[in-house]
Amino acid sequence: MNDNRLKILVGVGGGIAAYKACALVRYFTEAGHEVHVVPTDSALRFVGAATFEALSGNPVSTTVFDAVDEVRHVRLGQEADLMVVAPATADLMARLAQGRADDLLTASALVVDDCPVVLAPAMHTEMWRHPATRDNVAALRRRGTVVLEPAHGRLTGTDTGPGRLPDPEHIGALALAAAERSG
Ligand SMILES: Cc1cc2nc3c(=O)[nH]c(=O)nc-3n(C[C@H](O)[C@H](O)[C@H](O)COP(=O)(O)O)c2cc1C
Repeated sequence: MNDNRLKILVGVGGGIAAYKACALVRYFTEAGHEVHVVPTDSALRFVGAATFEALSGNPVSTTVFDAVDEVRHVRLGQEADLMVVAPATADLMARLAQGRADDLLTASALVVDDCPVVLAPAMHTEMWRHPATRDNVAALRRRGTVVLEPAHGRLTGTDTGPGRLPDPEHIGALALAAAERSG
């Protein structure tokens, strides 16, 4: 039994790198942590809920209207020791920066208040450099959210540049270090 077992909320945005979230979930579960995966609807167009449920051992939903008796966004947000979103899409960061709560992930993010939140953005270079995304990243960082720099490398299609999701092990190690610093 791991005495330092954390409850980790892993958010997954609808980017091509969503498949790498599977390795991140496995990284956390193998370290002995309890993982709850909360994908967006778009993320489930890239990776199925069954994969996240099997890897985490917990149910997966995208909406606040599932398991209403549990009021899942409140429970997930209140109980989380660490929240990690990988990949964080441009759209998801815009919604988080605005404080939107239009799905289970963003609603849970508004409930989380005293635990570290780590976002690992991944998108095309143009989206990453767009002033709207720069503003959203700045707003999130101002509020204490850790927004990692994307890696440089091969993107969707033939393009190369900054915007690639860092290796899941790298994201996982940085996130656990953030949790350790805050705990
Ligand atoms: C093949 C494909 C790859 C995509 N990859 C990304 C990506 O890496 N980053 C991103 O911000 N959006 C990406 N998108 C666009 C998002 O899926 C779209 O903005 C979606 O609304 C995001 O929803 P979410 O933020 O709720 O997950 C991609 C779309 C497609 C069809």
